[in-house]
Amino acid sequence: MAPSLNKIIILSDIHLTSDGKKIADLDPLNKLEAAINHLLEKHKDLDHLVFTGDLANNGLESEYAHLKKATSGLSSPITFMMGNHDNRDSFCKEFTYYAFDENGFIQSSINFGDYVLLFLDSLKDPYSDVEKNKGFLCRKRLDWLENQLSLVENKKVILFVHHPPFPTGLEAMDAIRLENPEDLYSILEKYKNVIHIVSGHIHRNISGNYREIGFSTFKSTSHQMSLNLKSEKVEFNNTEKSGYGVLCLREDGLFIHNEEFN
Ligand SMILES: [Fe+2]
Ligand SMILES: [Fe+2]
Repeated sequence: MAPSLNKIIILSDIHLTSDGKKIADLDPLNKLEAAINHLLEKHKDLDHLVFTGDLANNGLESEYAHLKKATSGLSSPITFMMGNHDNRDSFCKEFTYYAFDENGFIQSSINFGDYVLLFLDSLKDPYSDVEKNKGFLCRKRLDWLENQLSLVENKKVILFVHHPPFPTGLEAMDAIRLENPEDLYSILEKYKNVIHIVSGHIHRNISGNYREIGFSTFKSTSHQMSLNLKSEKVEFNNTEKSGYGVLCLREDGLFIHNEEFN
């Protein structure tokens, strides 16, 4: 008998707009609908759906209203994360049922057998001294993480955080990653139970290993980041296909696939 498997679909950087406004000549809402149709056709057996942040392009309530409508027909549980384009208050006005942690951040955890998925909120708000578009984990959020890790010391943890704490080699993006990776890694190195980190923000499929922890980022469902390592500015394109991630958890290990669609 085949080993049991949990399938988590990862939709990254959907960047919804509310007025049909295009980004890189693409309509992010149409692209999200195409992604949902694609995954419902190919991955009906999914156990969970994760949106890794940059849900709304401008953090507007009207953009979250589109998200609510687009996802209302899905029967699987969904985790929404915050990215630098998001606005926590606007999100919560639309998703009134959504749970916060005890400090008002959108952080949560779910269990799948021996695995625990932890979702961090790296939106810098209200830390106005943190540079625009960078992510930040304040002491409260780090303490929440440390507490969660201490509760699951014998589990295999997959950590989700919109802003990568690791470098990707894309210089323009590395300049706006997590502001304080050292604070995060000092906790991860203490507990040693995080086996993989998933980030959004990059709009490209990248995998690697940094400080002995594997990581993955995924294509956006909309516009992609051009592969130009030395570029000083962020370069998006609409010439590469859109995509999403398929994270499979099995007793003997995890594996990640990349789906693509037009
Ligand atoms: Fe993004
Ligand atoms: Fe981002």
